[in-house]
Amino acid sequence: MYTKISGTGSALPENRVTNLDFERLVDTTDEWITARTGISERRISSGENTSDFAARAAANALSSAGIGPLDVDLVIAATVSPDSFTPTVSCQVQKALGLAGATCFDLWAGCTGFIFALMTADSLIRSGAFSHALVIGAEVLSKLVDWTDRGTCVLFGDGAGAVVLSQSPNPGVLAHFTGSDGTRGSVLCIDGIPLANPWTADQAPSPPHSVIRMDGQEVFKFAVTAMQQSIRRVCELAGIDLDDVPYIIPHQANNRIIESVAGRMKIPRSRFYTNLDRRGNTSAASIPIALDEMNRAGVLKPQMPLVLVGFGGGLTWGASMIRWIPSSREGS
Ligand code: COA
Repeated sequence: MYTKISGTGSALPENRVTNLDFERLVDTTDEWITARTGISERRISSGENTSDFAARAAANALSSAGIGPLDVDLVIAATVSPDSFTPTVSCQVQKALGLAGATCFDLWAGCTGFIFALMTADSLIRSGAFSHALVIGAEVLSKLVDWTDRGTCVLFGDGAGAVVLSQSPNPGVLAHFTGSDGTRGSVLCIDGIPLANPWTADQAPSPPHSVIRMDGQEVFKFAVTAMQQSIRRVCELAGIDLDDVPYIIPHQANNRIIESVAGRMKIPRSRFYTNLDRRGNTSAASIPIALDEMNRAGVLKPQMPLVLVGFGGGLTWGASMIRWIPSSREGS
């Protein structure tokens, strides 16, 4: 038994925040942000939380796949910015969309979360335990940004992307390659709740507001190495020559990271699909948002091989090779 992506969806905040808006918030310029990152604008939530975007993206993915809420038996949401520790984002999506027969859980793997969730859902469906999974990447990172730190606040955006992964007689999801290195976790952090109970020295600290802390240059170097390794390895595992892959869909963090990978691997930059100029870095949501944009724009053709590649906090990294098999709704 195989799996395939049978539908895609995404959801973004209405609120568009440009680099000029940031000039009024911190000591920065449009020129600096554009030159160093490639980002011109991003969407920032002015009200909706992570599960709201996740539910909207999931609803769009269901209608793209042409299946109903009761057909879904598995929901995995990848996020580092859930509304609450519990209920999880996936359970909130279940409630919002009436996915009564689904098993739901969230998965944390930083910006690589969507790749890890896709790999997990792929394995669970192949095992025969499930038929149709919603795999979601959803973030409201604006809750976790230090709005006084010009080195990080300009980078991130909010939103969600989702795919429906379904049983298939033909192979649509071909291979995954993933890795992690917990010894280097300190280069990209979001603190959790400090330990405090009646038996600790500090019995009731006021929990500090968690924010993203990052060594930008270390993350940059890691990202360039991890992306190259992930792309190469997933091609080997799938038995597909990289020259035969028309599009690579990278985690949308920084244009210079993508250019550096393209240059080192001698891959034309035009084969890397990017929307980071308009979306910024939406963490676990960035790859499924980009995939949905490509699907809706008609860029994806039947049997087209695609590499999805991510990296992020943890540290974590990985890639998936898929072959595009349109749902019957979209024709073949
Ligand atoms: N506007 C203007 N100046 C800024 C700035 C901003 N928004 N952010 C940082 N600077 C300044 C720094 O303070 C520093 O000033 P100094 O030389 O006076 O100390 C200078 O620009 C250079 O900083 P540096 O950190 O060396 O810049 P950089 O070229 O490495 O670019 C990043 C910074 C964050 C854009 C880049 O390192 C990056 O994108 N890293 C990867 C981050 C990432 O992708 N994270 C998410 C992973 S999932």
